[in-house]
Amino acid sequence: MAVERTLSIIKPDATKRNLTGKINAKFEDAGLRIVAQKRIQLTPAQAGVFYEVHKERPFYGELCEFMASGPVVVQVLEGEGAVAKNREVMGATNPKDAAPGTIRAEFAESVGENSVHGSDAAETAAVEIAYFFSGLELVG
Ligand code: RTP
Ligand code: MG
Repeated sequence: MAVERTLSIIKPDATKRNLTGKINAKFEDAGLRIVAQKRIQLTPAQAGVFYEVHKERPFYGELCEFMASGPVVVQVLEGEGAVAKNREVMGATNPKDAAPGTIRAEFAESVGENSVHGSDAAETAAVEIAYFFSGLELVG
């Protein structure tokens, strides 16, 4: 399998509870390498652009407000099959459906406040990484 990069976000519910290190340990234990990372505060408008694909969904407004409700840690994870591997480590969107040991099973508070984001395909990952990081910030 090819080495890939994926965009991960540690969401405000998790940064608020000081879970950045515990979540990063899950990524590293799964063989994902954190090759770029920064803690930032999004505006609702910036979150809105990021989640534009969900613009028509009923939870869009709430999602944008939540993503701007506190700091997030945006990061680039690298590894073999990183997109799929990261989604495996994250677990299902709704923590009630997430497999034991996954980040969302252990840490998520609800389907909305679910601790992490991960790109859903290699093409989306490239767009999402470019939204937050310049080439100079990606040192490998
Ligand atoms: P993400 O994009 O954040 O990695 O999560 P995902 O692929 O597992 O889920 P997706 O369907 O893309 O939804 C994006 C985020 O929207 C919030 N959500 N709220 N209230 C609801 O029913 C609902 N459904 C989704 C979650 O924060 C979800 O991660
Ligand atoms: Mg998604």
